Amino acid sequence: MIFVERDMKDGFDEATLKSISHGGWGKTAYSNDGGQSVRSISPSDGSLVGEVSVASESNYEQVVEDSIEVFREWRKVPAPERGALVREVGNAFRDSKRQLGELVSREVGKIRAEGEGEIQEAIDIADFAVGLSRQLYGLIIQSERLDHRMIEQWHPLGPVGVITAFNFPVAVWAWNAMIAAVCGDVVIWKPSALAPVSAVAANSIAREVAKKYDFEGIFSLLIDNGSVLGQRLTGDRRIPLISATGSCEMGRSVAEIVGRRLGRCILELGGNNAVTILPDADLDLAVSGVLFGAVGTAGQRCTSVRRVLVHEAIADEFTSRLKKVYEQVRIGDPLEEGVLMGPLINQSAVEKYSMALRRAQQEGAEIVCGGNVIQGKGSGNFVEPTLVRTNRKLSLLQEETFAPIVYLVSIKSLDEAIDINNEVSQGLSSSLFSRNMQAVERFLSASGSDCGIANINMGTSGAEIGGAFGGEKDTGGGREAGTDSWKQYMRRQTCSINYGNSMPLAQGIVFS
Ligand code: UN1
Repeated sequence: MIFVERDMKDGFDEATLKSISHGGWGKTAYSNDGGQSVRSISPSDGSLVGEVSVASESNYEQVVEDSIEVFREWRKVPAPERGALVREVGNAFRDSKRQLGELVSREVGKIRAEGEGEIQEAIDIADFAVGLSRQLYGLIIQSERLDHRMIEQWHPLGPVGVITAFNFPVAVWAWNAMIAAVCGDVVIWKPSALAPVSAVAANSIAREVAKKYDFEGIFSLLIDNGSVLGQRLTGDRRIPLISATGSCEMGRSVAEIVGRRLGRCILELGGNNAVTILPDADLDLAVSGVLFGAVGTAGQRCTSVRRVLVHEAIADEFTSRLKKVYEQVRIGDPLEEGVLMGPLINQSAVEKYSMALRRAQQEGAEIVCGGNVIQGKGSGNFVEPTLVRTNRKLSLLQEETFAPIVYLVSIKSLDEAIDINNEVSQGLSSSLFSRNMQAVERFLSASGSDCGIANINMGTSGAEIGGAFGGEKDTGGGREAGTDSWKQYMRRQTCSINYGNSMPLAQGIVFS
């Protein structure tokens, strides 16, 4: 029924655990006595990737109680020692990068390079977290009172609920889990029901390491085949922080539920990312930036390029160059060499792709290339990467379709592009291709792009972990991964210390 911290060793036999962590994924990942399970089906060929038992209500309770118990001890371990554990987790990911990357590719359909890239992202955040474990700096504040000192310090927060989407089934958990672990928190992970086996594998690798330190319970996993457990976690007052990645709709509901109980959340929701290309841009760079951003992960990243705002002076040339490379994109088995684009995650994604294109055509947009579901290929989830030429009024420009569709819109000026860039409800990523310093600075200025991420001469996706990752407006406002994101995983304490022999009051108040 569950796949959770304490049950882990009972639920998995040694051989299965090994095969999952080291590349074998054909078997049932966890079996129990007749409970429900979720079957993970490869989006490429429809084969069974694994079958994982789902957690029951009582399993849920057990996980939360166990996590609280583990947290009580883990928070006392010195942060650099916590970092030592995380360092080993990162090394374990290094050792299994190829196998785990391949598993991710099989389970969610991204090509090998991107599957491995995702594990690299987990390794990178582990390294970053190890460094942090010797920092987590507080402040010493000058006091206005005689013989007083003030400090601001950071303490572990508690169990952190992490809800992740199918498209980054390891990395996004790692962003949260590695940072949370060095901060002295424990993690309860509710992965997407579309990618449970990658979650089992990644989590079991982390647990194997944590077990050596007698702290297996830092990394728990709740497998669910819908959203019931995620909702339970969200509403649970014992979980002070919920970090959720998914659609804007899902995020809104998480924010409402967590807000009602005055908990904290980190939301990383939908994007609707635009690339702006000015006439002075290096078009080779622009073509390859848009290609990776729009076709990478079959357009199923929250950072994927959705809109290209190209200056009218170069619109025809850019479009025809982009079309040429689009026509050469090899689509197929994501593990096959030379393939650049795998399948969409499932049939429902394929329907959304087709529906968006039908609507675009009804509204008068022109499909420049692609536009078709590829019939008779593998699981039937393969589609063509698609370029659509349209104008600013197309209603679909306001929406995020999780598919490799790019809308090309001609613009007359950078100001117009910035307006269009900012006129959607989402605010995750954006980019500008230009060699003009004034244009670049304008794009990055306070009246430029309103997104959490603004790139120059590169696409909108593929962020490094060192920056804080997330976006504004309907993207949810959260920031994960780098810089000072760690602060959200800790509680802040302001301490005033009187080391004198009198009791001066702040604001000069005399109270006698
Ligand atoms: C996501 O799609 O939810 O910047 C995360 C990127 C990746 C992360 C994407 N590093 O494209």
